[in-house]
Amino acid sequence: MSADTSAVPEAAASSRAAPFARDPGLLSQIVEVSGDAIFSEDRAGIITSWNAAAERIYGCAAEEMVGRPTAELLPEETSLQLQSVHELALSGERVDRFDTWHLRPDGRHIAVSLTVSPLRDRGGEIAGLATSVQDVTDRVQLTAELEDARRTQEKQNVALARSNRDLEQFAFVASHDLSEPLRAMTGFVQLLEKRYANELDERGLGYIAHVVDGSNRMRTLIDDLLEYSRYLLVDPPGRVIKTAEAAREVAASLQLTGVHVGEVPDVWYDETSVLAVLYNLIGNANKFRRPEVPLRVEVTGRIEDGRVLVCVDDNGIGIEPQYRDRVFGMFARLHVREAYTGTGIGLAIVQQVAERSDGAAWVEESPLGGCRFCITLPTVPGEAA
Ligand SMILES: Nc1ncnc2c1ncn2[C@@H]1O[C@H](COP(=O)(O)OP(=O)(O)OP(=O)(O)O)[C@@H](O)[C@H]1O
Ligand SMILES: [Mg+2]
Repeated sequence: MSADTSAVPEAAASSRAAPFARDPGLLSQIVEVSGDAIFSEDRAGIITSWNAAAERIYGCAAEEMVGRPTAELLPEETSLQLQSVHELALSGERVDRFDTWHLRPDGRHIAVSLTVSPLRDRGGEIAGLATSVQDVTDRVQLTAELEDARRTQEKQNVALARSNRDLEQFAFVASHDLSEPLRAMTGFVQLLEKRYANELDERGLGYIAHVVDGSNRMRTLIDDLLEYSRYLLVDPPGRVIKTAEAAREVAASLQLTGVHVGEVPDVWYDETSVLAVLYNLIGNANKFRRPEVPLRVEVTGRIEDGRVLVCVDDNGIGIEPQYRDRVFGMFARLHVREAYTGTGIGLAIVQQVAERSDGAAWVEESPLGGCRFCITLPTVPGEAA
């Protein structure tokens, strides 16, 4: 046991601490069981006591440390700073919770929080210092890790904000800058048709019709791009969506018969996205139906792997296995424009909604003879059985 109690810390010398002053043995026991390292030094900075926690934190026994200068504990870069702390304490001031680094005798740095108090002898003269040390290495590491995580998060937020801004700009450019010349072009072509129809031959009129048709298509593409860009933005806040009800609503608004909606669990997402998905899938089932065969669509769902799996089956024309991934691409279509209307943005939106909510969308063969489109959406909190 090495706690030196010949000099008494100031607090112990006060009247409240009278029992310790009367019984220095009690005080030394407390020092010994303290979880903080406590050591004392004389005015010359030579260690005079070293408790059990100090042995643990610095990895060095009292026998080795007593008699050595405290300066050995100070890494070079902190020694000036710590000297001033010592001078302050030697002038009678107590320095509370001073965060710095110490050097263990084995050369390792440890982050410490120090409280340095003057020790007075019985005559009231400052005889040395008592230092209590908390090892805060873990705390410092944790703080550093938290700081790292915070910085990464901040970077991601900045990147996200930037990509949102880019998207907004893109949407603006698409809607305004692209639409503007397009409108002017269509206007002039229409004027040309109106004013000069008599002077143009059949072929000339045919060219004009192509330009009008092309610009109308471009208008649709721009609108579809804009529509798609709405789903690129950040994940919207969720709420309970009654999936089956939404599917019935979509079938009714498309005025379809032959759509059967089974049990489908509710999902936790935004209504616009869920309606867009159902609208595109049920709409496609109707668009790509087999001629002469009554439409049959089955909307079903279940909870699987913590997500709501929604499937839309149809008895339509189906998709060959080799094209099943491709159809989710932007503007990807498997037929000529004349055969079916559309620009090929519907399934891109479906996939975007799925991925934005950390899910997936895919197509397989349906037992009904056509396609089975599947998408996984978030479950209502507490319902992921
Ligand atoms: N239920 C389906 N049965 C057969 N083929 C389908 C079905 N759904 C989609 N496809 C194929 O996938 C392609 C892409 O579908 P998508 O919904 O993205 O575009 P679209 O319906 O052609 O146009 P838009 O949705 O923009 O009006 C379609 O053109 C079609 O070839
Ligand atoms: Mg479609």
